[in-house]
Order: sequence, then C-alpha cells, then structure tokens
Amino acid sequence: MAMQGFDRIETASRDEIAALQVERLRATLHHAYANVPHYTAAFDAAGVHPDDFKRLEDLAKFPFTTKHDLRANYPFGMFAVPREKIVRVHASSGTTGKPTVVGYTAKDIDTWSHVAARSIYAAGGRPGMMVHVAYGYGLFTGGLGAHYGAERLGCTVVPVSGGMTERQVQLITDFQPDIIMVTPSYMLAILDEFRRQGLDPRACSLKIGIFGAEPWTNAMRAEIETGFAMDAVDIYGLSEVIGPGVANECIETKDGPHIWEDHFYPEIIDPETGAVLPDGTPGELVFTSLTKEGMPVIRYRTRDLTRLLPGTARTMRRMDKVTGRSDDMVIVRGVNMFPTQIEEQLLKSEALTGHYHIVLTREGRMDEVTVHVEARPDFYIPDIMVSEASAAVARIKDTIGLSTRVVIEAPGAVERSVGKARRLVDRRGLLG
Ligand code: DLL
Repeated sequence: MAMQGFDRIETASRDEIAALQVERLRATLHHAYANVPHYTAAFDAAGVHPDDFKRLEDLAKFPFTTKHDLRANYPFGMFAVPREKIVRVHASSGTTGKPTVVGYTAKDIDTWSHVAARSIYAAGGRPGMMVHVAYGYGLFTGGLGAHYGAERLGCTVVPVSGGMTERQVQLITDFQPDIIMVTPSYMLAILDEFRRQGLDPRACSLKIGIFGAEPWTNAMRAEIETGFAMDAVDIYGLSEVIGPGVANECIETKDGPHIWEDHFYPEIIDPETGAVLPDGTPGELVFTSLTKEGMPVIRYRTRDLTRLLPGTARTMRRMDKVTGRSDDMVIVRGVNMFPTQIEEQLLKSEALTGHYHIVLTREGRMDEVTVHVEARPDFYIPDIMVSEASAAVARIKDTIGLSTRVVIEAPGAVERSVGKARRLVDRRGLLG
C-alpha cells in the first residue's frame, strides 16, 4: 500500500525527522529557559543549560515537568509569552485541587488545528465529509480541538458537544454525517439510543469514528465496529501537550496511534527511576513540545502507560494503545490491575457490553473487587447470566490472576458517561 499522509513529513526518512527534532528541541529548550521562570530554576537546579543539548540523547539530562509543577504555577505561570499574546486558555478539572491551565498563542492554535486535521485525515477523513463532534466543548480540549481540525481539513462540522443522547441520534439520522468524534464510552450510549428508538445503527451514515480521551481496548473497538458498521480509530492527546491530535491511528493499519513527531517528542521512562527506556519497552510516556510558543512543555510526564513502536503506515513512530494511567492502576491483594484489562475479558462474551465499572471495597482486612457490567438486552436471561458471570470471573482470574465478583446488571442499569467514563470506584477508604 502506498504510504501517504496529510503532510509529506509523516512519511519522511527517520534521518530527516530526527534532524528536525534536534533543531526544534534546541529552540524549545532555549525558549522555555529564557521565558518561563519555572524552567530557568529547574534547569539551573539540575545543572543543565539549553546549550548542553546537542543530540537527541541529551534531552535525558533535562528535568521532568509534572502536573504538580503546572499546579504550583497556577494559573498562568507556565506561559512563555506575555498573557496578551495568549488567544485561548483551556483547563482540566482534575480530581483534586486546582485545575491545570494551558494557554495558546494564535500560532499554537494554528499548529493544533493542523495536527488535528492531520489526525482526522489519518483516520480516513477527507475534505467535504461531514463531522459530528460530540466531545464536550468548553474548557475541555476535546470539542474545540476536534472542531478546528475538521474545519482545517475542509469538512462540514456539526458542533453538537456531549449530552442529550436522543438529539445526538436525531442529528445523525437527519444530517447524515460521515464521521463522529466522541469518547468511546459515550459512543456506546449513542449505540444503545439508536436501538431504543428502533433504528438500525448499522444502517446509519457514519463510516468512521475517531475515539479517544480515555483508555479503550481493541475489544471495545470490535464492539463499536460491529454495532455501527464503521471503522473505529484511536485519537490520543492531552491538554498539557496541546489537546487531541498528539497522535492518531491510521485507518489502513489500526495498529496504535502514530505520534506526530515533528511537533511532539516522545520518550518512555521507567516511572520509578525516571530512566529512559528503549523503544518497545512498556513504561510512562513523556512528551516535549517542539513548536509550542505559548506554553512549551519540557519532558512532561503524562502518567500514561504504553510503549513506543516503529512506524507502519507512516514513518513516524507509534504508541501502543494506552493500558491506563499510572493513577488508574490498582493493587489488590498484591495484583496490579487496570480497568482496560477487565474490559478486555468482559467483552470476550457476546452477552456482555462495554458499560461497566469496578468497585473496590474493604471487607475486614481484605480488598474486594466487584465488577458491575451490563448485559446485552437480547441476552438478558437470568439463567444465562449466572453462568456468564462465573465465566467472566474465571477469565479474569486466569488472565489477570485476580479473584473478583462479577455482577451482571440489567440493560440500562450502569450509569452512562457523557464524556470520559469513570471506571473505578474506590470505596476502600470508607467505613461499612
Ligand atoms: O482528553 C484530549 C483529547 C480529547 C484526546 C479528545 C482525544 C480526544 P485531557 O482532558 O487533558 O485531554 O486528558 C488527557 O486522557 O493523559 C490520557 O490519560 C487520556 N487519553 C486521551 N486520549 C486517550 C486515548 C484529552 N486515545 C488524558 N487512549 C491522557 C487512552 C487517552 N487514553
């Protein structure tokens, strides 16, 4: 298959990509050091200067940046340009404390629109197609990021935002979009709504779904692709780095998102020691922005666990589908577990859906894990459910090594998310 992308650089030689990265990393390190007091202090404390950067390997000498650093400089302390040059801010709420604020210059918005357009193109989007955006609009980067990307590509954008599921289905039916951009968990809610209205989701106009903002498995991909007769493609990003469009899967291969390495430099580190790990080894993903003006980030620790893989449909490297965030990993009775691992096992049964959550409780001195998963309406027969539940328990035990309870809920009983799904409910700190 002939490789082609939105931009020539996507399929350039590794030497050309590396040369561009060196040049842009050098400029970014200087820009951050000269204009952001946090970086001046952090580089000085680590005894490094931007002039020490000569080759890609030299980046490892520079200190990491964490969410804590962004919070400590709340709200605008990480900006590298005067506030007046910032044309947009976004923020993520976070579970505790202050939100993380990010800022963009006009050039940054242009860069972001461009990488988002490139992402939609990689997913199979083409000028003239209609894109239904059901990511939330507002401080979250999902809605506006997808929106600007689709417009840049030359698509017709329907800016629906999240929520009002009935209306989502009505607009899809009436407007006949080719593409939908939404979290995978909310896509399942839209799928259910089609069926509730007696409509055949496979007959709808949607041909491509661009799903991200939360971890999802290949089992979930299969669930959505058969439910809708569409290609489901993974989009990755985070607000600190730019928003959606840091990496995107190519529809030709669907083998993990290609990182847009001309704008974002990836590293994988050992989350305990901070050591840089070779490609192919799982660890924590770290990004340095290469072209951002308003808020450059140096070695930003994403907490997302994945590994770097060689390019396939593009020469730019891929990341494996994210297993989860290090914060989402729970250790139960000595076993490490991610919600995505449970998801994979649940979806091995055609009687179960991707609507699930995992509740952790403490009974006496023992941690207990209860998985609540919804049955498919056409399979919801009590006798079958008993054996389905014990089969799921056995699969989870065999693959993850963890004893759980699986409770199969009636169709509609598991709470729907409109944006990012909350998979883990930790009640271990609570009494009773
Ligand atoms: O979620 C940006 C985004 C919007 C990406 C829409 C894709 C689509 P934040 O709210 O800052 O930004 O959250 C970023 O979400 O560190 C990951 O933990 C998770 N995440 C994002 N995309 C994926 C994905 C947006 N494709 C955090 N797979 C990241 C797994 C993802 N996790």
